[in-house]
Amino acid sequence: MPWPQTRVAHLLGVSLPIVQAGMAGGITPPVLVAAVSAAGGFGTVGAGTLSPDRLREVVAEIRARTDRPFGVNLLFPPARAHAAAAADAVNAVLAPFRADAGVVAPPRPHPMPPGLVEAQLQVAIDERVSMVTFAFGLPPAGAIEALHAVGAVVFGTANTVDEARAVAAAGADAVVAQGSEAGGHRAGLDSEALVGLVALVPAVVDAVDVPVVAAGGIMDGRGIAAALMLGAEGVQLGTAFLLAHESTAPEAYKAALAAAREDASVTTRAFTGRRARALPTPMIEALEAAGADLLPYPQQASLTAPIRERGIEADRAEWLLLLGGQGTRLARRLPVAELVAALDAETRATLARVG
Ligand SMILES: Cc1cc2nc3c(=O)[nH]c(=O)nc-3n(C[C@H](O)[C@H](O)[C@H](O)COP(=O)(O)O)c2cc1C
Repeated sequence: MPWPQTRVAHLLGVSLPIVQAGMAGGITPPVLVAAVSAAGGFGTVGAGTLSPDRLREVVAEIRARTDRPFGVNLLFPPARAHAAAAADAVNAVLAPFRADAGVVAPPRPHPMPPGLVEAQLQVAIDERVSMVTFAFGLPPAGAIEALHAVGAVVFGTANTVDEARAVAAAGADAVVAQGSEAGGHRAGLDSEALVGLVALVPAVVDAVDVPVVAAGGIMDGRGIAAALMLGAEGVQLGTAFLLAHESTAPEAYKAALAAAREDASVTTRAFTGRRARALPTPMIEALEAAGADLLPYPQQASLTAPIRERGIEADRAEWLLLLGGQGTRLARRLPVAELVAALDAETRATLARVG
């Protein structure tokens, strides 16, 4: 059975409305994004922590590999101050982990670099990328209009119906409804809500006129077909692509995710200051147990970053931030082209079975 024609496929200019989630942190390199788009899906750069110059290079590297459209994901977290005493408390809990990893504390917690998101947006506009997806908050006033003016489509992320309404009212062309199963941060505006995808997607579909993209726990064609049945017009997958051959996630990270049961992950603010679904590590457990006042995102992330960076160098899972969703039992280690082809075939087969 063929895929239904969806507004999301039309907006993105793709045959398969399968979006590879933009994942900040350098684990989805240009080769992966390009491979998703070349396979008929829609690749996305996780640009949240990229410098504007690096983002420009990444866009060029993807364009050198494929002429298919792809997107850029940007993060707009609210700026929040922290108390110095909170940093002291967190540093005290982190001290033994830093000693173990052989790293030192950063001199002070870092907020978002001033002007970063505006400069990233300008790169997306200058480069005329075909789609920008936003998370962690709404873009600054005028940004969506400026993107529309250069022909880009804009998607925004929501964790609740109210957030979906706000994203649509801001002018987004589609809402990414992120269910509680999802790996990574709560990517909507500011709610820490954990609503399962089966409840969230139809409620969002009923609440907004723009099309809805379902994200969270979708790992195969059964999940994609189910999301379409719920009224979604596209899907966004993160964890499934983390295990792909082209992903540069450290091997220890991939192995931990591949071995994880559906009940293994936790949601925690301990690592970055923003609630995220990840596999627990001793460091997360120590921060939770201490009940220390955590810093807001991204200041908290800046305190744990040296340990994470050492974990990447040393390929040690216990020092990493093991973001991942609840669908890990269904994860497959395949080249992107084979994964996208399997998702396509499975979706058609499932639609034929139930349709
Ligand atoms: C490692 C990782 C990093 C992520 N980084 C981002 C990000 O930078 N921006 C964003 O909007 N969503 C991010 N997400 C969330 C995804 O957009 C998506 O909601 C989620 O992956 C869907 O659930 P799944 O992982 O079960 O497929 C991330 C997810 C993971 C697993």
